[in-house]
Amino acid sequence: MLEVKDNDLRSITLNTGARMPLLGLGVLGRENREETADAVETALNSGYRLIDTAASYLNEADVGEGLRRSGVDRSDVFLTTKLWLTKYGYDEALRAFDASLRRLRVEYVDLYLLHWPVPSAFDLTIQSYRAAEKLFAEGRARAIGVSNFGISHLEDLMAASEIVPAVNQVELHPGFTQRQLRKFHAKTGIATEAWSPLGGSVRRSSDAQTQDPLLNPVISDTAGRYGKTSAQIILRWHIENRTIAIPKSFNPSRIAKNFDIFDFSLTNEEIAAIDLIDPSGRCGPDPQQVRADTFPITVED
Ligand code: A2P
Repeated sequence: MLEVKDNDLRSITLNTGARMPLLGLGVLGRENREETADAVETALNSGYRLIDTAASYLNEADVGEGLRRSGVDRSDVFLTTKLWLTKYGYDEALRAFDASLRRLRVEYVDLYLLHWPVPSAFDLTIQSYRAAEKLFAEGRARAIGVSNFGISHLEDLMAASEIVPAVNQVELHPGFTQRQLRKFHAKTGIATEAWSPLGGSVRRSSDAQTQDPLLNPVISDTAGRYGKTSAQIILRWHIENRTIAIPKSFNPSRIAKNFDIFDFSLTNEEIAAIDLIDPSGRCGPDPQQVRADTFPITVED
């Protein structure tokens, strides 16, 4: 019989001392639609306690609606949202945060992230982070962090601010394992969070050389051995690496299945074999190239 070697992989401790679930639901993709509220409600009723949204997903109101509909207590849910690029700046960020809380209809978020670094105007990125530090001090953002930051962006930010980011959320999947960045995170006490944990960014990429991790034989063979799906193997690999994973799905059966990963564990050899796949590299935008107007998204106040 296969033994579960560590059953306590539901959450990790952030540098704030708070616990953050290792597995959550991502909700990018369905703007202002009933589907978002349904997905959040389904996820919370399937056991998820982490929901990851962003002002730029234009669905914060729907996420709030799903949260209330689920009947799960607000205090039992770890809720993340993110500051959009066009709202960078100290005062702008504070206003944008208020707008996010209003749309979500909550009093606080558990994690507030700067969505991207803006390397060509990094002073604005820093001012936005200082605003996040104020929100943290006020307790309206229970933890603060960043998204899509590389090592040099983190170094520059940390040299100009007081609070070490609790989390850096980046593209990370078996096709792009971010080894160097993860080492840097481990050294500085930053938790690693994976967007596109199932390789959704690879499937959306037009590059014919890239390989969908869900179809990778190393992963599908492992799935066969455990009677699990490839997605479940990849998600288990993330949490065994202590990477927070937020798979997106709007399909109720996949939402539930993606959470059913707490009854088995991978061997060190299996984890190492997946760590070594690394065939596709980055498929999403390159953070170094991002500017305030890179994405055609308008977020209202
Ligand atoms: P769907 O909403 O139809 O489930 P990622 O989070 O890595 O970007 O991947 C998200 C994409 O993968 C979505 O298109 C989602 O589609 C799909 N997906 C989510 N869970 C699974 C799964 N268990 N098996 C196959 N595809 C999945």
